Amino acid sequence: MTTPERRTFAIISHPDAGKTTLTEKLLLAGGAIHLAGEVKARGANRRARSDWMKIEQQRGISVTSSVMTFERPQADGSIITFNLLDTPGHEDFSEDTYRTLTAVDSAVMVIDAAKGIEPQTLKLFEVCRLRSVPIITFVNKVDREGRNPFELLDEVADKLALDVCPMSWPVGMGGEFEGIYDFATNRLFQPHGPSREFDDSFQQFAGLDDPKLAAALSAHGLAKLRDEAELAQGGYASFDLNAYRHGDLTPVYFGSALKRFGVGELIEALARYAPPPRPQPAEPAPVEPERGDVTGFIFKVQANMDPQHRDRIAFMRLCSGRFKRGMKLTPSGTGKPMAVHSPILFFAQDREIADEAFPGDIIGIPNHGTLRVGDSLSEKADVRFTGLPNFAPEILRRIALKDPTKTKQLRKALDDLSEEGVIQVFYPEIGSQWIIGVVGQLQLEVLISRLEAEYKVEAVLEPAPFDTARWLSGEARKLDDFSGINRSNMAKDRDGNPVFLARSAWDVGYQSERNPDIAFSATKER
Ligand code: G4P
Repeated sequence: MTTPERRTFAIISHPDAGKTTLTEKLLLAGGAIHLAGEVKARGANRRARSDWMKIEQQRGISVTSSVMTFERPQADGSIITFNLLDTPGHEDFSEDTYRTLTAVDSAVMVIDAAKGIEPQTLKLFEVCRLRSVPIITFVNKVDREGRNPFELLDEVADKLALDVCPMSWPVGMGGEFEGIYDFATNRLFQPHGPSREFDDSFQQFAGLDDPKLAAALSAHGLAKLRDEAELAQGGYASFDLNAYRHGDLTPVYFGSALKRFGVGELIEALARYAPPPRPQPAEPAPVEPERGDVTGFIFKVQANMDPQHRDRIAFMRLCSGRFKRGMKLTPSGTGKPMAVHSPILFFAQDREIADEAFPGDIIGIPNHGTLRVGDSLSEKADVRFTGLPNFAPEILRRIALKDPTKTKQLRKALDDLSEEGVIQVFYPEIGSQWIIGVVGQLQLEVLISRLEAEYKVEAVLEPAPFDTARWLSGEARKLDDFSGINRSNMAKDRDGNPVFLARSAWDVGYQSERNPDIAFSATKER
């Protein structure tokens, strides 16, 4: 049997650009109904039957939206399965977000037509670029007044240093919106009825100079479309599959998630152009999805929200082989084989206990803390996936206990939460106060509330005299010398690696210039 087709992707965007709305419309279009409420409404029996739901109920956690799956039949009768991985959509984000992007083969970048590229879009894009993740751009909300499409395309090209290729074009925006013209198929999709929604109908034309277009659009709309389309097609790169798959070119679709414009074309583009499971960086050699035995890595761990239990779900991206329930896999962390009896798979119509999964699929593995983010799992214990980084924190705080007798509980909690990627923790060489590092303010709030709720530890955060941190590597003797001189800036991370706590970015630059034999890294791989 050939391996079933998979497209494993994430949506990256700045809050409010329309990620949630687009996700819903993708799932609805793909026939996955659990977001639409139907499953909930008639699902009481099914929920009782499904072991997975039981897990979800008992543990009080919701992984519902971590992985969403939908399917689409192909012309030849085969089915493509889409695995959409959720990236938490806060203004602030944690390493969780970054790491989820290591588990996808491509991404859809949603931008608001009125706002263009916003700060978080840019940050997430940079993470995609690190791994050359190919990006399809969706310019959303064309049903509202937006910026000129050329200006938007130029901004994507300039800010992201990417070639852009418009694949469709909006005929006006906001009050003047008359539809979307798809360049590849010469189809025109138009708003209908009082809701001005897309109703799945379209008109087929022979091309942009087809005289029949005059009957479909206003004279102004038609003239504008013809002018703009000519400029758009002449002025930007033409679509090149290789350039897209290398992350050098982004095809751009215009649409409105709310009114369902462009959603079908986006699915079509993912099916046609987005890469199937890609080889994954690993040692001793990259793992090809065609490899026969099962391998995968943990990119996310979701701990129990219920303080009575300490179970967690580890999310594994399957990189090769055909996974079967009950299979024994060896995690790189412990080196001890474990049988995966109750894996969770995420199906389009329902989520059930998995019997089988294929490269590109995500499997939830319930465990008691044996599996950690960054762990590689394999049948033969012979692979270590690389490139799951920790990122240098942008905010550092000292953590202090209100009740000093709770040191042990605090240490345990900090270890757990750093394992989950909620925070990073550094243990300074001098002094007894631990330092917490995060990339976004929200993580600090999450930390304090989870410490109280789950660990019954009350803690306060105080300013730390440091601004950022760098992982050090180099010859042991050089590292020792450096640590000796800079003891008050030295700490260990939770794995015992040496870390330089810097007072400023300037400090990092200064020290790395003075110590050319030591590498100061802003990321650390497990
Ligand atoms: P996010 O997940 O990226 O944060 O965005 P979300 O989908 O929640 O959308 C943010 C707001 O933008 C929502 O409005 C949503 O309805 C609106 N929106 C999303 N796509 C479109 C679109 O194509 N056209 C228009 N006109 N609006 C769109 P809200 O008022 O904040 O929320 P709600 O009360 O409508 O849910």
